[in-house]
Parts: sequence; structure tokens; C-alpha cells
Amino acid sequence: MTPQDPSGASREAEGAHTWAILVAAGSGSRLGSERPKAFAALAGRPLLAESLERLDNSPWVDAIVVAAPPEWEEPAILLAEELVASKVAAVVTGGATRADSVRYALAEVAQNALVVLVHDAARPLVEDGVIERLLVRLGEGVDGAIPVLPVADTIKRVAGGAVAETLDRESLVTAQTPQAFVADRLRSAFTGEVGAATDCSALVERNGGRVGVVAGDPRLVKVTTAADLELVERLLASR
Ligand code: C5P
Repeated sequence: MTPQDPSGASREAEGAHTWAILVAAGSGSRLGSERPKAFAALAGRPLLAESLERLDNSPWVDAIVVAAPPEWEEPAILLAEELVASKVAAVVTGGATRADSVRYALAEVAQNALVVLVHDAARPLVEDGVIERLLVRLGEGVDGAIPVLPVADTIKRVAGGAVAETLDRESLVTAQTPQAFVADRLRSAFTGEVGAATDCSALVERNGGRVGVVAGDPRLVKVTTAADLELVERLLASR
């Protein structure tokens, strides 16, 4: 893994307090695209462009590290240059799992960073409003803050082809990204075995951290299938 500095932004990033890690290294096999998901076309440009541009334009974000799919580091750097995404401090090669990709990107976050936001490139429609809610919540003394949405369906745990349990929907939510963390707390959570954690909050929770919740955003749809991509395109057009 060789971190690459696309624009000489690293020096500027030295005084940055809030860093964003944008994980974009997933294969996107469920999308049915030949390219990795981050480079599937969304409204005529790579999916990654939308979240990268939004984070770069956000007044809450000082510096960005992108985790790109193996062999797609160069296209990611070129995309950042095309977008004039001047906050991109490094593009790293992602890992085999999301947690590995975050770990590699975290290694490029400056030691003096105070807050790290971790965002999935697979959720293109990130708005400043949700970032602001997360940072306000973080300022209330928690170790992390995540956006959540209520669950509409009844959720059941199944085992062996049968229902094992019906869960209490009132206490359940779905977790989105971006997720915000006190930088040191996130680093501590990533020192041990990260296993198959599908979000960073799970690792911070496991490490004894307290993670607050804020209202999520229904437009922060995660692109997994081609139908999701079409939905995000429609949402983008209806702005
Ligand atoms: O696979 P999934 O859609 O859950 O991935 C969530 C996010 O994590 C995506 O933005 C994807 O690009 C990223 N990811 C990654 N490295 C991996 C797997 C996923 O950066 N090995």
C-alpha cells in the first residue's frame, strides 16, 4: 500500500482538525458492473465523484483520505484533480474488507486530527446537515456519533429456516454513514483485530466507546444494486 499525494495537499492538511475518510474500495459485485462500484456511472460520472465533491465542498471537513480499489488509485487521483478536490491529502489502496480500508486510510490521517468522519462512497448524497448534527452530538462528550433511521418493517431473527425471535422494532434503527469519531477513540478501536465489522461504530462500541445517535437522512441511500443506483440518480435529479 503506497499512499499517494495527488495535489500536494498534505502540507496544508497539517493544521486540519476534521478529517474525512472516504472508503471506496469495495468491488461492487452485486451491482453487476465490470468496474468497482465507486467507478460505476452515476448521472454520467463516477459514483465516487458525488461524495468526494460534497465532502470537499463541506465547510465542516478540512482534509480527506480516499481508500481506492486496488489498481484504481490512479483514476481516483485523476478524479480528485478533475474535481479540484483540494482537500484530498492522500489516496490509499483499500483492503480486503471495509475495516481494512478504513485502517489503511486512518494511517494517513494527521496525528493532530481531532475528529475523523468515515463515509461510504456507496452513499453519494451526503449533505452538510447530517455532518453538522454529528459534530454537534460529538461536542456533547460522546466518543462517536452516527446517523440512524427508524425501522419500518418488523424485524425477525431466523435460524435454520425458521423464525427464532421477533425483535422489538421500537428500539431498532438502521445505521448510516458518515460516522464521526473523536480521532483518538477511533485509532484505539483500530489497534486490535477488526474482523468483519461492517461499520466503524461497531469497533468503537466493542472498545468500550459511547456512540451517540442523530437523525439520519433518507436520501443517504446506500448503492448496492443497479436499482439503488437508479434511485440515487432520480433523487439527484429531483434536488
Ligand atoms: O460492501 P459495502 O457496500 O458494504 O461497502 C460499504 C463501503 O465500504 C463502500 O463505499 C465500499 O466501497 C467500501 N469498502 C471498502 N473496502 C472494502 C469493502 C468495502 O472501502 N474492502
